[in-house]
Amino acid sequence: MGALTDIRLDEYLKLSQVEKGAYLKRDGRLFHVLFAQQFGREDLESLGRLATRIRFIAKTKEGMDFLRNVLSDKRAMLYFSQPSTRTFLSFCAACQILGITTGEVRDTSTSSELKGESREDSVRTFSSYFDLIIMRSEIGGLAERMAWTLSNTERPVPIINAGSGKDQHPTQALLDIYTLQRSFETTGGIDGKTIMFVGDLARGRTVRSLSLLLLNYSDVRQYFVAPEGYQIGSDILQTLDKAGVRYKLSSDFHALIPEADAIYMTRVQDEWDKTDGKPAVSFDRGRYSFGVEDLKRLKEKAVLMHPFPRRTEIDPAVDHDPRAVYWRQMRNGMWIRAALIATIFGREKVIDEHAASKV
Ligand code: NCD
Repeated sequence: MGALTDIRLDEYLKLSQVEKGAYLKRDGRLFHVLFAQQFGREDLESLGRLATRIRFIAKTKEGMDFLRNVLSDKRAMLYFSQPSTRTFLSFCAACQILGITTGEVRDTSTSSELKGESREDSVRTFSSYFDLIIMRSEIGGLAERMAWTLSNTERPVPIINAGSGKDQHPTQALLDIYTLQRSFETTGGIDGKTIMFVGDLARGRTVRSLSLLLLNYSDVRQYFVAPEGYQIGSDILQTLDKAGVRYKLSSDFHALIPEADAIYMTRVQDEWDKTDGKPAVSFDRGRYSFGVEDLKRLKEKAVLMHPFPRRTEIDPAVDHDPRAVYWRQMRNGMWIRAALIATIFGREKVIDEHAASKV
């Protein structure tokens, strides 16, 4: 299968996401990271293994000194035209761990976009100076179009989608899977588990990407729990139907808590109310929040997750419970993003060899 240089943009855009995935490699290796469907189970397992190796190597100064040389020949551009704390900082930290120097544009009112420059020209400009572009945008599908455009220039640098519109957030889903892998290490892994998504599922891109990545595991049940008007999109449900995945739609969160192995809480994405996103329907927030009392009904080995930022979905008094893994989940983002970047640049072997030499 070819790369994005071998196909016209209009032809590429007509393909299914799974078909598109085959065009995102370069010389047989992971190149652009655009959506969840491009990852298979083997990819998820090897990224998780590499993240864990990096995490262990980073425990000593000697290890950190080694890691800082792994990609000291590369520069990355962080282009975030939408607000971000964790994704931005964890990518920044991941780059620092691997010795990558970074540049950033976070506010397009300070860049030439204010002078009328197109996003295409901005991204192409970044590719003149940097070896990797990590981008977040409010425009769904933008990272994908940019990846095609850049692939067809003389400086085809990889693009990582750090969140695109309401559609996808693939690297968040990677860190969520890594968190599930680690959480279920002693209880048989992700296969066979019940994962429950709660909140604004209509516009939560993290939920969409994670739901799709879970298709790589067998016998996983997915529960979508949302108030009226906020339920998950029919495109996701059709994909689950096709894959023969068992799922449940509900609006009764508290009744379902005892059934879940992982609960994935989300906030209301009301920034979309002002633009094209529909919901703006009011509902009782308490019915979709997790409080101290709910801990009693949560399975002993279950985990409570949240991509953050949180508002009232999880009472901070719950944070001390060992099943509340969202702070660990956040930190996992840094390790899995470091593993992802090392893989894109084909440096996973050097890291493996270093880890092997230390045992
Ligand atoms: C999420 C996002 O940006 O989609 N945040 C994140 O990256 N952890 C979730 C959100 O904003 O609610």
